[in-house]
Amino acid sequence: MKKIGIFYGTNSGKSSAVAEEIEFYLKKEQVKLYDVKEGVEAVEDYENLIFVTPTYGVGELQPDWEARLPKLQNMDFKGKLVALAGLGNQLAFGESYLGGLRILYDAVVEGGAAIIGRTSPEGYVYKESFAVKDGLFVGLALDEDNESVKTPDRIKHWVSSILPLFRD
Ligand SMILES: Cc1cc2nc3c(=O)[nH]c(=O)nc-3n(C[C@H](O)[C@H](O)[C@H](O)COP(=O)(O)O)c2cc1C
Repeated sequence: MKKIGIFYGTNSGKSSAVAEEIEFYLKKEQVKLYDVKEGVEAVEDYENLIFVTPTYGVGELQPDWEARLPKLQNMDFKGKLVALAGLGNQLAFGESYLGGLRILYDAVVEGGAAIIGRTSPEGYVYKESFAVKDGLFVGLALDEDNESVKTPDRIKHWVSSILPLFRD
């Protein structure tokens, strides 16, 4: 069985619900959920990681993630596989959609992580997103404020694409 750590930060609960939904689709695996409000120390215990964050401010990281960012920036991510999922609002924040996701991406890539689960921006309606790099989102892009109906399918397909890549 694959051991996977899911770490999320949330202000209003949508990201924790998404983390639980990801856990649901990973059903046969050994998964543990962590609210980063309680810390990120447990990240060290996993080779298989999923980070979930909404974006706040204008393209900024969720505050609990932001508070833990220096700790993440000091961690060694070499040998770790990291999949990222972001929540944002494409209509209200169409020019800073998912900016927080890119901040997390940069931190873990800098630490040596291998990123899995990048996705196509096709079909999304935002204007600008810092989370798009070389034509792809750096992770799974969700919009619970405007497109919640699409979320279960998006998560399901994404999980089935990353699951074979995680280490046993
Ligand atoms: C004050 C505020 C600022 C926000 N800024 C952004 C933003 O810059 N980009 C974006 O994509 N979404 C932005 N959002 C939308 C949130 O990321 C979105 O509602 C998310 O689903 C909230 O997740 P949570 O319930 O886990 O906190 C913002 C929301 C609020 C309330």
